[in-house]
Amino acid sequence: MPEEKSFHMSPDDFRRHGHAMVDWITDYFTRIESFPVLSRVEPGQLRASLPSDPPAKGEPFDTILQDVEKLILPGITHWQSPNFYAYFPCNASGPAILGDLLSSGLGVQGMLWATSPACTELETHVLDWLVAMLDLPRKFLSTKSGGGVILDTASSASLCALLAARERATNFVSNQRGCDRTLVAYTSSQAHSSIEKDVQIAGLGRQNLRLIAVDEKFAMRPEALARQIEQDRRAGVVPCFVCATIGTTSSNAIDPVPEIGRICREQKIWLHVDAAMSGTAALCPELRHIHDGLEFADSYTFNPHKWMFTNFDCNCFYVADRKALIQTLSVLPEYLRNRATETGAVIDYRDWQIPLGRRFRSLKLWFVIRHYGIEGLQYHIRRHVELAQQFAEWVWKDHRFELAAPAPLNLVCFRHKGGDEVNQSLMDRLNRSGDLYLTHTRLNDRLTLRLCVGQANTTARHVERAWQRIQEEAANAI
Ligand SMILES: Cc1ncc(COP(=O)(O)O)c(C=O)c1O
Repeated sequence: MPEEKSFHMSPDDFRRHGHAMVDWITDYFTRIESFPVLSRVEPGQLRASLPSDPPAKGEPFDTILQDVEKLILPGITHWQSPNFYAYFPCNASGPAILGDLLSSGLGVQGMLWATSPACTELETHVLDWLVAMLDLPRKFLSTKSGGGVILDTASSASLCALLAARERATNFVSNQRGCDRTLVAYTSSQAHSSIEKDVQIAGLGRQNLRLIAVDEKFAMRPEALARQIEQDRRAGVVPCFVCATIGTTSSNAIDPVPEIGRICREQKIWLHVDAAMSGTAALCPELRHIHDGLEFADSYTFNPHKWMFTNFDCNCFYVADRKALIQTLSVLPEYLRNRATETGAVIDYRDWQIPLGRRFRSLKLWFVIRHYGIEGLQYHIRRHVELAQQFAEWVWKDHRFELAAPAPLNLVCFRHKGGDEVNQSLMDRLNRSGDLYLTHTRLNDRLTLRLCVGQANTTARHVERAWQRIQEEAANAI
């Protein structure tokens, strides 16, 4: 038989290019501070530099890599720069990158236990580890009534929670018949916009999401929640879901989960807790108070892809009652039937999420936890919190600036006292300089700058430099 023609990359070439790729990434990390943090390309610039037609014949890998350097790199905003303080972080780390690479190499699709038992079992195990690591209520353990799953994002986690809440509130018939009653969801006016999107997707209708007022610390007012629920019941609609936030996106406010939880329990309303970034802080015992009241939660979510050094995407979603979630999301066509599922002895994570297919994401999380150990993770989280607190103190001591909200963890909201225009111009000039990148929000209807210390490699020298640059630009602002 003549040898079959192949266009595939040979194992030898894969090894060679793979080493080159790892070298490239390593060099990227060593020179990352030489790039402007915020990309300076204009809209359409990258596309204009790419050929309009795809290649008819394959190209050498070295040429592709050269284009990464020449074309792609200028269009990158460097989320992995230690001078990145914008939004919330989206961390990468050596062990996570290697775990992701291994996941790609194994190329597993873990929709069912049977389609790769290790994919399911490692995930269950690592999520149970995290219950202990964050000291979450034991009901979230897979060995109790609940369990955890890795999803892509907190938005998906909240959607799954909302769908389960909708089903539970309608005795699991709205999946069948559609929703024939008006269901109402509640969250604070400071909650992440994903809750609004989830309410739209779940079919509750945007007008049936109540945005509950917040206090002076931007945390939900439980008494306003209780009043709104009562008013809704009187109006004949069905309160079914409350989302409390631990660490809001704008200002890192922490909703009073114990009070909210008591209301939800009394009213038999599903309580979901969104701790997208800040949940990671609970790795440190002295910061665990942020999780007070979680014993009332029906579901909980946090993103290791934000602050736990695990590459995007990696969201951990926990439920207290896995049966409710599975009953909500499970559809079993003939072609997915298999013996293991029928024994009832295995988890099929396809029933815990919206898509069918799923990547082997727990590998990167496992690598991270094993590489750093609890000690290493705690060290870096504590360091970020210390650095943010130090920054907050500098702001507080500078008469030109004011703190715009409490800074319970690693996010500092501050503003120049000169007003919105001054703050906008200060931020624009800092970001244009390429020395650092920070973003804004509005608090009490005033433009507010946010500086979040959470990038894996941010150290004291970076935060000191950021403050120095802010002061320099502030001097020019007036
Ligand atoms: C509190 C909170 N919830 C949800 C999200 C949405 O995160 P994701 O991108 O994982 O959907 C964010 C994003 O920053 C957030 O801060």
